[in-house]
Amino acid sequence: MTIHTSRTALITGASRGLGLALARQLAAQGWQLVIDARGSEALATARAELAQQTRVIAIPGDVTDTRHRRALVEAAQESGGLDALVNNASILGPSPQPNLLDYPLDVLEQVYRTNVIAPLALIQDL
Ligand SMILES: NC(=O)c1ccc[n+]([C@@H]2O[C@H](COP(=O)([O-])OP(=O)(O)OC[C@H]3O[C@@H](n4cnc5c(N)ncnc54)[C@H](OP(=O)(O)O)[C@@H]3O)[C@@H](O)[C@H]2O)c1
Repeated sequence: MTIHTSRTALITGASRGLGLALARQLAAQGWQLVIDARGSEALATARAELAQQTRVIAIPGDVTDTRHRRALVEAAQESGGLDALVNNASILGPSPQPNLLDYPLDVLEQVYRTNVIAPLALIQDL
């Protein structure tokens, strides 16, 4: 009898930086991965590297997009459910950070959509 012991993590924003570093560590430990990022080319490069070590589902898209989040949830379900969710994808906004009095509100709205609303929505969806 084969006992399936592999765990699965969904890491958003895993095409570079902290998300990719974490994905590499989990892949080395045998975790299956579901990853995303908006830039499909960098995501494909990351997937190709990680897939040398583990099963990886890479879905390009924006975490603020409801349909993209639905695709992530379906991938998690197809993988047998999640053992970890890492809401890593985020945007910094203008740099240096402007004072709130000068902060362009359309940008502030996008920052909150990406960094606050989308992670909570993903938790709710899952
Ligand atoms: N770097 C630091 O000094 C630092 C310090 C404290 C906390 N953090 C936190 O650590 C996390 C990662 O930081 P980092 O420096 O590794 O960031 P990063 O290098 O800018 O990487 C961000 C990742 O998220 C993806 N991403 C951004 N917006 C997205 C969206 N709307 N939908 C899907 N993917 C998206 C990016 O790919 P695309 O652009 O292609 O979408 C990329 O893969 C963030 O939550 C950040 O707040 C970082």
